[in-house]
Amino acid sequence: MTYRFPYNARILGTGSCLPEKVLTNQDLEKTLDTSDQWIRERTGIRERRIAAKGESSSTLGARAARQALSRAGVAVEEVELIIVCTSTPDVIYPSTACFVQRELGAANAAAFDISAVCSGFVFGLSIAEQYLKTGRYKTVLVIGAEVNSRLMDWTDRTTCILFGDGAGAVVLRREESEEPAGILSTHIFSDGNRADMLIVPGGIGKEPVSTQAVEDKLYTLKMDGQATFKVAVKRMVEASKEALACNGLTLEDLKVIVPHQANMRIIEAVADKLKVDISRTMVNLDRYGNTGGASIPIALNEAVENGMINPGDLVLLTVLGAGLTWGAGLIRW
Ligand code: COA
Repeated sequence: MTYRFPYNARILGTGSCLPEKVLTNQDLEKTLDTSDQWIRERTGIRERRIAAKGESSSTLGARAARQALSRAGVAVEEVELIIVCTSTPDVIYPSTACFVQRELGAANAAAFDISAVCSGFVFGLSIAEQYLKTGRYKTVLVIGAEVNSRLMDWTDRTTCILFGDGAGAVVLRREESEEPAGILSTHIFSDGNRADMLIVPGGIGKEPVSTQAVEDKLYTLKMDGQATFKVAVKRMVEASKEALACNGLTLEDLKVIVPHQANMRIIEAVADKLKVDISRTMVNLDRYGNTGGASIPIALNEAVENGMINPGDLVLLTVLGAGLTWGAGLIRW
């Protein structure tokens, strides 16, 4: 089904912010029963970034947003909505988006967070798309920001090797146009029956915070890696095909895929099933690992910076994350 809206939603600028501290596989070898070779061969990751004391989803997110605004040539006063996609909010409340708003001085914006974990950015983009295409807002900021390092069990070699910290941002603008351009469509999905597959079980709503819960490591990430792997490939491919079909486009029309950066073998399997050459797939997980909801906007920004994405190109975003949540987005750049 093709959806028609009165306006287009264009990405005018992108930005990212990565913490300076680098944690290499060799560093992990010193504290874990693992090896650089195992991590590289099974995941493609060589190193990841770790937030310093004082850095958080809001500080990284605000820096990424400033870069995106400056590249878009948009003044902060013009921003009407700030959506922060994060699963590592600064505090329980208020939202990380409100801290970003304060940091930016975006006095004219409404600001809120969304929780869709690694799929956060595609879900956030989908919300922005509706507000822009229906004409409600003219300028929207979508930020993916995570400090995953704070949720790791650093003694669990099956998870802590995978994740990293960082933020990416896009500035979107409503435009009138005869031809569809910018965000062509977004497609988001969830399966709560698989909520336990990838979970941080500690919280505040179900059980109060307790010393016991901390000792039981309930505030760290637990994952069934193999099950997640299989479902990721299947769902990312399905969502990608739906996005193309919805717009009457084919795999041949695609210029670049910007997939979620979780595991090189997932990225290769998705590219293979979509019959897209891996050279047309943006990959930076070797340097950053899985940065959750920040992964796609960081990769998108890098693809724009390095000339992989150019005006007129058809760009596909595709992701799966905890929830489970998954989705895809098609952009005519
Ligand atoms: N270093 C060395 N050995 C490790 C290891 C590590 N860091 N982690 C696991 N192993 C061991 C396992 O204990 C197992 O040993 P065994 O055979 O003696 O039992 C062996 O390596 C194989 O483990 P397995 O779990 O089968 O590896 P895998 O090839 O499935 O890779 C993941 C594990 C986690 C890298 C992979 O399943 C994955 O990436 N899944 C998707 C995760 C993901 O993307 N999640 C986020 C989605 S947003």
